[in-house]
Amino acid sequence: MSPLGVAVIGAGMAGKAHAAAYRNAPALYESILPEIRLVSIADAYEPAGEAAARRFGYSRHDTSWQAIAEADDIDVVSVVVANHLHREIVEGLLSAGKHVLCEKPLSDTLEDARAMAAAADRAPTLARIGLTFRRAPGIAYIRELIQSGQLGRVLHVSIRYWTDYAADPKTAISWRFKGPSGSGALADVGSHASYLAEFLAGEATEVGGGRFSTVIAERPKPLGAVSGHGHSAVSDELDTVENDDYATFSLGFASGAAGTIEVSRVAAGHPNDLQIEVFAERGAAKFSQARPSEIQLFLSEGPAAQQGYRRIPLGNPHPYIAGGMPIDVSGVGFGQNEGFLYQARAFLEEVAGLDESASLPRNAGFDEGVHNMELLAAVAESERLGGAVVRLAG
Ligand SMILES: NC(=O)c1ccc[n+]([C@@H]2O[C@H](COP(=O)([O-])OP(=O)(O)OC[C@H]3O[C@@H](n4cnc5c(N)ncnc54)[C@H](O)[C@@H]3O)[C@@H](O)[C@H]2O)c1
Repeated sequence: MSPLGVAVIGAGMAGKAHAAAYRNAPALYESILPEIRLVSIADAYEPAGEAAARRFGYSRHDTSWQAIAEADDIDVVSVVVANHLHREIVEGLLSAGKHVLCEKPLSDTLEDARAMAAAADRAPTLARIGLTFRRAPGIAYIRELIQSGQLGRVLHVSIRYWTDYAADPKTAISWRFKGPSGSGALADVGSHASYLAEFLAGEATEVGGGRFSTVIAERPKPLGAVSGHGHSAVSDELDTVENDDYATFSLGFASGAAGTIEVSRVAAGHPNDLQIEVFAERGAAKFSQARPSEIQLFLSEGPAAQQGYRRIPLGNPHPYIAGGMPIDVSGVGFGQNEGFLYQARAFLEEVAGLDESASLPRNAGFDEGVHNMELLAAVAESERLGGAVVRLAG
């Protein structure tokens, strides 16, 4: 197998997670990958790219995506920049013959997402979208419990993804606060929540009850570069917040199940609180990102006097862990960063042409990224119509 040269575009919050993931992916499980060469990290803000390349052991840094597209020593590229920049960069990389792993959501508009999927269809290389939480062993295990029939038919799901990165009115404006209706908390964390709703309960056919609110209408401009959710020194000048701080909606699934999703970036005291509860015919299960190394499981079996939720510490018998984590036993623990590691490993395995049966579950294609955006667009339409039910195209 020929070596694979890797680059990451964007050295912000998630870009660093991608950079670290490619570095460690060959050592996750048996070393069956070709040689992975860590070539470049590109960021328009040069100090960020330079620091990340040094920190994660990449040979060089660049300041434009075009430099990555033109480089002959790069085969595989993660695109980890603001959502509205995804289309131009992804299309440019695919035209240049690169394999592309794009961050979620696919774009900030459905139109751009569809154009990206069309470009991916035309390209001979791979185009995948990173929806990291499907790699959380607890969530993947709840899916196994559903798909194996152990939990029985799903009746309803409830997903909350509360964050508080924007709870402070002095948090600087950044790309996260700009864009069309639904491109705020809904796109940022609601893309994860809605993908997971379908990952667990199957295809959604309609959404309703869309309600958004923007509780902080103006924010100060930053004085320097802003990375991720980080706070920075701010000026006295204010800029308008264009999109939602909070969003909620309900879902109807093809199976007849129902669900609700609530997302926020102003949920004070909840920095990164993804909570999932699935209720099914033969039991129920709960996952919380605050305790990612366990799930709560209720099975309606045994004497009624002994029924109740029990805590299942995740380890060797559960997805992703055995043979992967250096210490792969229960109770050792892992977190959100590992999701990027499994994701990068799955992408490299696919690019290297390793057989699917001997690989981690593949990353989602751009068609799934478009479907996710269609669902989010339907929520925005429901909100525009005062909460009306909006059917999703089949
Ligand atoms: N999967 C997850 O859990 C997860 C978590 C966070 C973010 N994300 C996604 O990752 C993407 C990036 O989010 P983030 O929080 O890392 O953003 P960020 O603001 O922290 O970083 C973006 C970086 O892109 C750089 N940049 C801006 N324009 C550029 C250009 N034209 N070329 C190259 N670099 C450019 C900026 O200087 C910045 O360093 C978004 O799509 C977001 O939705 C995913």
